Amino acid sequence: MKSNLFDIGGRVYVVTGAAGVLGNSVARYLAAQKAKVVWLEFDIQRLETALAQCKAETPDAEVLGLQGNVLDRASLEAARDAVLKKYGRVDGLLNGAGGNMAGATIAPDKSFFDLDMDAFRKVVDLNLNGTVLPSLVFAPEMMKGGRGAIVNYSSVSAFQVLTRVVGYSASKGAVTNFTRWLAVDMARNTGGKVRVNAVMPGFFIGEQNRRLLTNEDGSLTERGQLVIQNTPFGRFGEADELHGAIHYLLSDAASFVTGSVLEVDGGFCAFSGV
Ligand SMILES: NC(=O)c1ccc[n+]([C@@H]2O[C@H](COP(=O)([O-])OP(=O)(O)OC[C@H]3O[C@@H](n4cnc5c(N)ncnc54)[C@H](O)[C@@H]3O)[C@@H](O)[C@H]2O)c1
Repeated sequence: MKSNLFDIGGRVYVVTGAAGVLGNSVARYLAAQKAKVVWLEFDIQRLETALAQCKAETPDAEVLGLQGNVLDRASLEAARDAVLKKYGRVDGLLNGAGGNMAGATIAPDKSFFDLDMDAFRKVVDLNLNGTVLPSLVFAPEMMKGGRGAIVNYSSVSAFQVLTRVVGYSASKGAVTNFTRWLAVDMARNTGGKVRVNAVMPGFFIGEQNRRLLTNEDGSLTERGQLVIQNTPFGRFGEADELHGAIHYLLSDAASFVTGSVLEVDGGFCAFSGV
C-alpha cells in the first residue's frame, strides 16, 4: 500500500500561463511541494517577476522558466526539448494559459448580432487550441515515461449559461469536451498511465474579469453582485483554493480518476439561483 498518495516531490510539471493569476499561484504551490516546475509563459516580464516571487518564497525551489507560446507548435517543441535536457522527463501538464477578451463578450448595450467574430476566433484559439497543442507536444513524453497527468482549465461558463459571455463559454465548453475525449483516448492507449482531467473554477478575481465584477473603489458592480448572489459561499474564490484540487488530480491519489471535471466554485454550479 502506498503511504503518501499526495507525494509529488521530484515530479516534473509543465505549467502554461504560469505567470497568470491562477497559474502563478499553483506553480509556486507545486514548487513548495518539491515538484520540479516548468513555467511556460508568453509574457517575459510577468514570468521574471513570478519566478523571483517563487524563489523568495521557496529558495530551494526547482524551477525552469521558459518563454513560450501555447499557440505555436515550434515554440512548444523548443520548450519540450529544454525540459527534457534539464529534467529528462515530463510527469504532468497544467494548461493554465487561457482567458477572455472584450470583443468576444457582448457589451450591455449590444446584441449577439454585434459579435466581433475576430475576437471570438481568438478566444476559441487561445482556450481550445492553446490546450490541445501543448497536450500534443507533452503527452508523448508522459507516455514514454509511463506516467502522466494533464489538468485543463474549464469554467463554470461551460456548465451554466452566463449572459453576454459567448466566446469564452463556447471555448470552455470545448475544453471540457476535449478533456473527456483525450481522457478516453489516453486511457485506451496507455492502459490508464496517462490521465486527463480538468478543474472548473467559479469566480476568482483576475486581470480579465476585475473590471466586470468590481468597481475602481473595490465595490461590486451589478454583475459582481449577481455572481455573489448565485454563489452559495457568498464570495469570490481565492487563487490558493484551487491548489488542493489540482494537487489531487496530479497525484497518485487520483490514479483511477480520468475525464473528470472538478468544480471549485463555492457551490455556483449546484445552485439553481432560487
Ligand atoms: N480567474 C477566474 O475566475 C477563472 C475562472 C475560470 C477559469 N479560469 C481559467 O483559468 C486559466 C487561468 O486564468 P487566470 O485568471 O490565471 O488568467 P490570467 O490572464 O491571469 O493568466 C493567463 C496567463 O496566460 C498567459 N498567456 C496568454 N496567452 C498565452 C500564450 N499564447 N502562450 C503562453 N502563455 C499565454 C498570459 O500572459 C497570462 O500570464 C484560464 O484558462 C482561465 O480562462 C479563470
